[in-house]
Formats: sequence, C-alpha cells, structure tokens
Amino acid sequence: GGRRDLVGKHLLISTGSTREFLDPVRFIGNPASGKMGMALAQAALHRGATVTLVHGPMEESLKARLGGIQTVSITTAEEMHRAMLTNLPQADWIVMAAAVADVKPATQAATKLAKADLPQSLPLAQVPDIVADLSQKRSPHQRLIGFAAQTGDIIPPALDKLQRKGLDAIVANPIDVAGSGFGGDRNQAVLLTQAGDKLPIPPCTKLEMAHQIWDALLKAGF
Ligand code: C5P
Repeated sequence: GGRRDLVGKHLLISTGSTREFLDPVRFIGNPASGKMGMALAQAALHRGATVTLVHGPMEESLKARLGGIQTVSITTAEEMHRAMLTNLPQADWIVMAAAVADVKPATQAATKLAKADLPQSLPLAQVPDIVADLSQKRSPHQRLIGFAAQTGDIIPPALDKLQRKGLDAIVANPIDVAGSGFGGDRNQAVLLTQAGDKLPIPPCTKLEMAHQIWDALLKAGF
C-alpha cells in the first residue's frame, strides 16, 4: 500500500562512484557506496515511479536489492556521461547522486605498469561535468537535482553549485559528521531549491531521507 504519488513519472538516477584508471590495476576513485541513490530508487519505485539507475561499482549484496529497477552498470565518468545522455529523453526527473571523479589520469596504460615505471607525479585531465551537461541538454519540463557532498559549512558551496550547474534543487550533505555521508546506512542533509526553499533533513536512514526528498520535491511542485 502507501503513497502512489510518483505513478507516471520516469526517474533517472545516478549513484555510486566512478573509477578513472591509470593502468588496468590502479585507479582514482572515492568511497561512495551507491546506497543513497539506491534508496532514492527504491523509494521512488515503491511510490509508483519507473526508475532507471545508472550506478558505479557496487557490492553484490546491494545489487541484489535492485529488483524492479532498470539498472545500467558503468565504471568511468565517461561511461556514466554516455549512459545518462542515452537515458535522458525518457526522464521526467534526473537525480545526480553519484560521486563522480572530477579528474582522471591524463594517460591510461593498456597494460600494468611495473612499479619501477610508475611516474613520480601524476598528470591529471578533467572528466566531463555530467550534471552541467545534462542541464544544457535537458528539455524545459525536465527537473534536474544534484547532490553536494561537503566538509565544513555545507550550504555556501551547495548554493554555488545549484546556480553554476543550472540545477532545480541540490541536496547538500556533510561527509565529515559521524553517521552521515559515504558508505553508511544513515545520512543528514539540507535540500535547497532554485525557488529558495531550504529544508533541513535531520539524521535518518537513507531510505527515510529518500522519501523526504520525494515529499519535498512534490510539495515544491516538481
Ligand atoms: O563534485 P561536486 O560536489 O561538484 O558534485 C556536485 C554535483 O555534480 C553532484 O550532483 C555530482 O553528481 C555532479 N557531478 C557531475 N559530474 C562531475 C562531478 C560532479 O555530474 N564530473
């Protein structure tokens, strides 16, 4: 039973980390588990939405809980970029919950580098800013929501990203507070919208947070 208030909506959600390889065995990555985007997908499915989840590497035990959700598994930021663009046309709401690597090694070796051949320093290149590109390419009716994982004062950098990346809303969440952020089952955040709404979401499970985010976006008229 419960709320079926997302019936008819198609949600495109990204989650997890990306990996940017230096050679076949070494990469730049981050600790994102994919749990927040997975909770968003599960909550949306429960409320009647059609959900496509583009995810980076995730634990097998988590992937086993993705029944009913169309999944696209990717590894690099460029693969996530392509998968999001491919699935963009059908989406009503797009949520970038993924912790995308911001940089990649400037060159990738096709075979494993011997320890003696590893460089002393690592030249980096940019990866695409996926959410900024989605913001450019979306249709006016499509709503775009970002995440901002921050340390310290989470609000100012999130407001900056909301404007700079052309988002309709952003979820700012601290990653330097116990029981919040990467990997765990709990989180806390502040939801900021382009219209100026500012909704604090106190510490709760990621599934509870997902439902609060959908409640707030519906209430805001998304
Ligand atoms: O990394 P940053 O804090 O700037 O991320 C803010 C938002 O931008 C998040 O929604 C994230 O998924 C998105 N992002 C992206 N492509 C990147 C980096 C971040 O879409 N290369």
